[in-house]
Amino acid sequence: MQLENLAHYQQRIDAYLQLQLDNLEINDQRLFDAMQYGLLIGGKRMRPYLAYVTANMLHLDLDDIDPIAAALECIHAYSLIHDDLPAMDDDDLRRGQATCHIKFDEATAILAGDALQSLAFDILANHSFNNISAQTHVKLMQQLSHATGYQGMCGGQAMDLAATGEQVSLSHLQTIHKLKTGALLKASILMPASCREDLPEQTFAGLQQFAEQIGLAYQVHDDIIDITSSEETLGKPAGSDLEANKSTYPSLLGLDGALKKEQQLFEQALTALTALPYNTRNLADFSTFIIKRAH
Ligand code: IPE
Ligand code: IPE
Ligand code: MG
Ligand code: MG
Ligand code: MG
Repeated sequence: MQLENLAHYQQRIDAYLQLQLDNLEINDQRLFDAMQYGLLIGGKRMRPYLAYVTANMLHLDLDDIDPIAAALECIHAYSLIHDDLPAMDDDDLRRGQATCHIKFDEATAILAGDALQSLAFDILANHSFNNISAQTHVKLMQQLSHATGYQGMCGGQAMDLAATGEQVSLSHLQTIHKLKTGALLKASILMPASCREDLPEQTFAGLQQFAEQIGLAYQVHDDIIDITSSEETLGKPAGSDLEANKSTYPSLLGLDGALKKEQQLFEQALTALTALPYNTRNLADFSTFIIKRAH
């Protein structure tokens, strides 16, 4: 399954991110190198991709989407660097390379994550948008902080750690996955949607529906490929969840149950799209892509 223009948007965001790093005045070279390593080496760039195709669908100026896509990817990169730390998932391979704390050291990896988080907000706050109001600019900051913090990714990561080795209910696991992974994916769609200031509430709600289903499906599939794929394909350790005794969809429902669940989420996502008065082909293809991907 090929996503339309994926390579094009990957190149676009990589160039934009590199430019943001190049604009930093170097003080600590080692920290800079770790940030660059965690941000720019490998990665599918799914959050930027979603932001760009959503914006395209809504006929938005993509120059206004670059800082949004970059901020999302900085937060994502930070979350992965911290997720791999010994205090969290303790993994040593990411995107086919040594994880940041292995390549550098733990303190540098912690700081690289911190600095990438700040950089995300810096990029978003300092951009001069062409077509959005000051009010929408603030709203974007709110959406990103909400998706990142206690009520989003960070909160989900804490719940994920607390659930390790525990028997949790399916609804609890769903909350974990919606927060730790779903929140940022949802923001990747809803931040661009907020830039379309004349978007009818109903359309925004439809996009939100879609974003919630695929946000959850993304992590269900991540759980699935942890057991069905190889380290070589994943670029990260296979079987890491099993080894760490993580609460995952396959651990709760079995592999077949998890596959059924993601199929259901996929169908609900497509249903949400049918209500939208736009050409939703790229978003539909994205839904297929995330439940078929091998890495
Ligand atoms: C992996 O994210 C961690 C999750 C949130 C599921 P991705 O699968 O998007 O990882 P990269 O960015 O392509 O490496
Ligand atoms: C990570 O979930 C979610 C994040 C917010 C980083 P996982 O721990 O399953 O991600 P991987 O499998 O290490 O990429
Ligand atoms: Mg984790
Ligand atoms: Mg992990
Ligand atoms: Mg995983």
